[in-house]
Amino acid sequence: MSTKNTPATRHPATRHIVSINDLTDREIETVFDVAQSFLRELPDSHFPYRIGRSTKIASDCILASLFYEPSTRTRLSFESAMLRLGGETITSADPATSSAAKGESLADSVRVIANYADIMVIRHPRDGAVRLAAEYSPIPVINGGDGSHEHPTQTLCDLFLLKKKNKRLKNLKVAISGDLRGSRTIHSFVYALARFGATIMPMAAKGMELPPHVDQRLREEFRCQMVSGKADGKGDGDAIDALYVTPEEPHQQSLFAASELETNADAVGKKVDAVYVTRFQKERWADKEQSYPKIDRKFLSEPKYSDASVMHPLPRVGELDAAFDVDRRAVYFEQAAYGVPVRMALIALLLGLKGKSLHKFTGGFERPKYPLYDQPRPIGIRCANKNCIVHDPMETQYVRNKFYVVKTQSEAECKLRCAYCECDIEDFVVASRKNKWFAADPAALVRADDQHFKDLIVFAKAAEAAEAGFHSRRAAAEPKPARRATSKG
Ligand code: NCD
Repeated sequence: MSTKNTPATRHPATRHIVSINDLTDREIETVFDVAQSFLRELPDSHFPYRIGRSTKIASDCILASLFYEPSTRTRLSFESAMLRLGGETITSADPATSSAAKGESLADSVRVIANYADIMVIRHPRDGAVRLAAEYSPIPVINGGDGSHEHPTQTLCDLFLLKKKNKRLKNLKVAISGDLRGSRTIHSFVYALARFGATIMPMAAKGMELPPHVDQRLREEFRCQMVSGKADGKGDGDAIDALYVTPEEPHQQSLFAASELETNADAVGKKVDAVYVTRFQKERWADKEQSYPKIDRKFLSEPKYSDASVMHPLPRVGELDAAFDVDRRAVYFEQAAYGVPVRMALIALLLGLKGKSLHKFTGGFERPKYPLYDQPRPIGIRCANKNCIVHDPMETQYVRNKFYVVKTQSEAECKLRCAYCECDIEDFVVASRKNKWFAADPAALVRADDQHFKDLIVFAKAAEAAEAGFHSRRAAAEPKPARRATSKG
């Protein structure tokens, strides 16, 4: 194991789960097969969804939980999972009593803790923090929720529940309600749903729609199409009016993942298989007083919800009526119970304890391989998301200005996607170090061959490029070969 003071990209065999898209569809199914085998082999005689006994397969292993944000379910179910596997756990769950309070960086903490454990689960308030941690960790890192970015293991529990209830994952229709902008559970969940061909009905609270980059990825990368959610011609009831988006506003229409099996109209008219409720993520909003939808019996009395599983990642804080708990459609406690077998399966696979190992899989959703623009700080563009880990003063020396160059639909244009938090930047200027020019020409990144690509440097604004000593390409192009004359490398 390397102890060098450099990122851990030199541990190619180590598998991290930061995004749900770090797992292929087949791997997700494998996690579920293994989770199901644990439920079968270690049953609780009274509750079919509960693990009732322990095994010893992880008896040599230690799980470290590193939680910089409050947690009940995620931390305790990870720790229960490790104990049920026969392993041990060590925990740092209070930033005030850990070295974070002394100003230690995450990059340092993970390199220290990696010597004390075999696998690590991290929760952090900053978007992209767990990607940074994974870069520095020689042991597998699992994202237990990073800011409002992603929460992939919650999605595994959600999908496992959906599969149990519907006997399939393909082509489900799922309504998602509440704070779609701030809820990291929703972001991982919608990517996975789209990958499995679901129809997704966003029912955002006012002003809390899906973030633009998630919405764009659904349409561009996961082939979702937008169709009117009211194609069935029916008006919504009072309660729904408060939640549903209007067809006039495109971002509030149903997102429909293209499927060869059904038409858009079929998808709109189809009954809902699940309603996924989320709480208002007040810790992620400056304005803490917001009107927020409530899901209750009345809302769920519409015929289209008659067979819908009502899900919630929990905790709930009033948005899902407790009087609904006795309804046969209320499955949120079962959903939370699956945290143990599903996380047991993920740990066992990442550690290669179950005959199968996630190392042997190719790794990750088969998405386009985007070129990586990677510059040491401080020069050049920085992520525009102020909650991204790159803006954490404790991590300044450990993060880089790293972005994927994502081609847009026209193929001749591109945008930058932060490698940590995955937020996009569409407007920027590109400069040539060699020739000392810059231009408002993002597509220069797409046109450049490998060698030229390394020469290019991106700035957020022309003024920043000029301040750094670059000059506008148009001005320099008039007389002749200023290009080579000023080259400095
Ligand atoms: C979620 C989270 O932390 O994002 N909780 C969980 O892990 N089940 C949901 C939430 O806090 O609202």
